[in-house]
Amino acid sequence: MDSLFSLSFVVDGSPSTVNVRDRDLLVFVLRDQLRRTSVHIGCESGRCGACTVMLNGTPTKSCMVLARQVEGMTISTLEETAQAPTGEIVAAAFKRAHALQCGFCTPGMVTAVVGLLNRDTDVSEDDVRQALRGNLCRCTGYQHIVDAVLDAAATLREART
Ligand code: FES
Ligand code: FES
Repeated sequence: MDSLFSLSFVVDGSPSTVNVRDRDLLVFVLRDQLRRTSVHIGCESGRCGACTVMLNGTPTKSCMVLARQVEGMTISTLEETAQAPTGEIVAAAFKRAHALQCGFCTPGMVTAVVGLLNRDTDVSEDDVRQALRGNLCRCTGYQHIVDAVLDAAATLREART
């Protein structure tokens, strides 16, 4: 049987310590031990983006990270990201543009969008499509999502002038 070891990191602003096995994936630790159920599991192989969280401020697919790799790091799930100013603006734009249907992809999608707009708000439609190429949506056909991101980017640019 794999031995357990203690892992300490910050999740949604709270210092957390959990016991993990050597091969445990971060996505399962977040969902099963820390109850962050906004972190969805789709493919478990890095292709769908449903499990995307912020890892030290960078959108990261948590099914591609071993839990032991995040010792001492800071993770934000949608529970925290959606409360931050950029997250609130993105969430409101998704609502206005009807950019979700079943919502399965939405936490990962919003996290990826916040990562993009935290880097740069001067984005084109092509930039948005490139940035979201690792996040799959089976419902919306993507155009409403792209519209929401461009809307959020414009709101953020206005707020900063
Ligand atoms: S569940 Fe992680 S990318 Fe699909
Ligand atoms: S809204 Fe259903 S998968 Fe994107």
